[in-house]
Amino acid sequence: MGIERAVEHVKRSRHLIVFTGAGVSAESGIPTFRGPDGLWRRYRVEDLATPEAFLRNPKLVWEWYAWRLKLVKNAEPNEAHRAIALLEKLGLVKAVITQNVDGLHQRAGSKRVIELHGNISRVKCVECGYKGELDELPKEIPPRCPICGGLLRPDVVWFGEPLPSDKLAEAYREAREADAVLVVGTSGVVEPAGSIPLIVLERGGVLINVNPEPNRYDPVATVNVRMTAVQFFRDLIRALKAPSP
Ligand code: OAD
Repeated sequence: MGIERAVEHVKRSRHLIVFTGAGVSAESGIPTFRGPDGLWRRYRVEDLATPEAFLRNPKLVWEWYAWRLKLVKNAEPNEAHRAIALLEKLGLVKAVITQNVDGLHQRAGSKRVIELHGNISRVKCVECGYKGELDELPKEIPPRCPICGGLLRPDVVWFGEPLPSDKLAEAYREAREADAVLVVGTSGVVEPAGSIPLIVLERGGVLINVNPEPNRYDPVATVNVRMTAVQFFRDLIRALKAPSP
């Protein structure tokens, strides 16, 4: 299964980072994008996750985001999120780079989290640039800016938009410093995020690919571990003789 080799690489690493996708939150009940029950099987990207879609129909886009926000607010971090936070506390994990917008890594206690695709609990005004947190679901849809009355949008990255340059730069910096990356629960097909773990490989580090399904990293990974995120971290924590998260 590769788990023993993965454990050895983790033990030997000096600068371990974790790179996550929707699969790490699947066991918290949050749907992934491309699996059999994935969001992009049921919905069209171009109707819901592009700036053009938002301009065309902000109400429809917001209804979909409000539904996802409710799922996120009702979800709890799972054992994988908690194990990653514990490994950071123990000094083994240096940073988490995530494509997820659910904030579950932070809720589990991870401190250094680089969010490449934004956060579904934050909003920004399309007119004046105001940014805020959504403590609860928006009362009116689409919600309006408390400062200028303009349209608020989710503070996430949509297709066709660039990633926040500061986050991308931080992620590249981490990847260049890392000698090992745990890639957990991502298909890796969305760029530029998907190529970040490859930087670790290019610089002579190891890539451990944790995913119950084959994915883009299979042919290049140092080790492929065909397990769910929770299973993997349970085994890893046990092997490291760390306390249960
Ligand atoms: P995907 O839905 O593309 O991939 C999820 C991956 O998680 C798949 O490879 C699954 O096999 C794996 N998986 C499923 N259950 C798992 C589990 N319990 N444990 C571990 N792995 C599991 O999601 P992402 O790779 O995150 O972008 O997608 C990347 C980006 O595409 C997202 O950030 C989002 C999306 O469109 C934007 O919104 C910009």
